[in-house]
Amino acid sequence: MIEVENLHRHFGGFRAVDGASLKIATGSITGLVGPNGAGKSTLFNVIAGALPPTSGRVIMDGEDISGLPPHVLFHKGLLRTFQIAHEFSSMSCRENLMMVPGSQSGETLWNAWFGRGRIAEEEASLLKKADEVLDFLTISHLKDEKAGNLSGGQKKLLELGRTMMVDAKVVFLDEVGAGVNRTLLNTIGDAIKRLNEERGYTFCMIEHDMEFIGRLCDPVIVMAEGKVLAKGTIQEIKANEQVIEAYLGTGLKNKEAAG
Ligand SMILES: Nc1ncnc2c1ncn2[C@@H]1O[C@H](COP(=O)(O)OP(=O)(O)OP(=O)(O)O)[C@@H](O)[C@H]1O
Ligand SMILES: [Mg+2]
Repeated sequence: MIEVENLHRHFGGFRAVDGASLKIATGSITGLVGPNGAGKSTLFNVIAGALPPTSGRVIMDGEDISGLPPHVLFHKGLLRTFQIAHEFSSMSCRENLMMVPGSQSGETLWNAWFGRGRIAEEEASLLKKADEVLDFLTISHLKDEKAGNLSGGQKKLLELGRTMMVDAKVVFLDEVGAGVNRTLLNTIGDAIKRLNEERGYTFCMIEHDMEFIGRLCDPVIVMAEGKVLAKGTIQEIKANEQVIEAYLGTGLKNKEAAG
């Protein structure tokens, strides 16, 4: 699905991403882990078009998509979740879903002039779709709640829901579980699994919670200092000396010890 070839993203003289190469297989839930500052979010930002690469390539289904802007990638089915924008916080969950660009054609001039009937029809089908998404995510009871009133975890679910309003192929999740309570984390995990199994979504997710990663992801890719250090099953990763080394002091071992 996605191939990253010798990707660099520098900030001045600093090499945040320093020659990273990796593949994300179609149909996988690929985990991306690594110590703080490893370059994971920067890599995501480059893949998803928020930052141009300094050099290197990103290939999607054989096509060079390096440096394409987010809205173009969006239409190709490559999505990353975004925090609910401030201006949408006073809109209901349902309205937030209905606002997802690309899920409606009401804004084109042609439709504005000639498509009134069609717009009403689309509006109804959008509403239906939004309600299906809310149902899928088990948050139907929140459909009329303002997005701004949701808990952190519920917001993450709604962000995931936004990817379901369009035909997503590959979705990038940056710390979707951060600060989310266990119950909601399980709901988010289940939603990711079901989207993968039932709708064929490919995922790549950055996460620090190794238990969460281990439960969902195969393979797991480890980044350190802007490079890919290792790739394998969670067991292989946990047993990898280089990985343990990279995490020493802050990561895996301490987290494991802490339970
Ligand atoms: N816009 C920027 N300008 C300058 N330096 C940046 C910029 N964005 C990121 N960096 C630096 O690049 C390095 C990698 O950052 P990045 O956010 O990609 O790490 P990360 O692996 O996502 O870390 P974390 O796990 O803490 O989220 C860090 O040292 C960071 O300070
Ligand atoms: Mg990050």
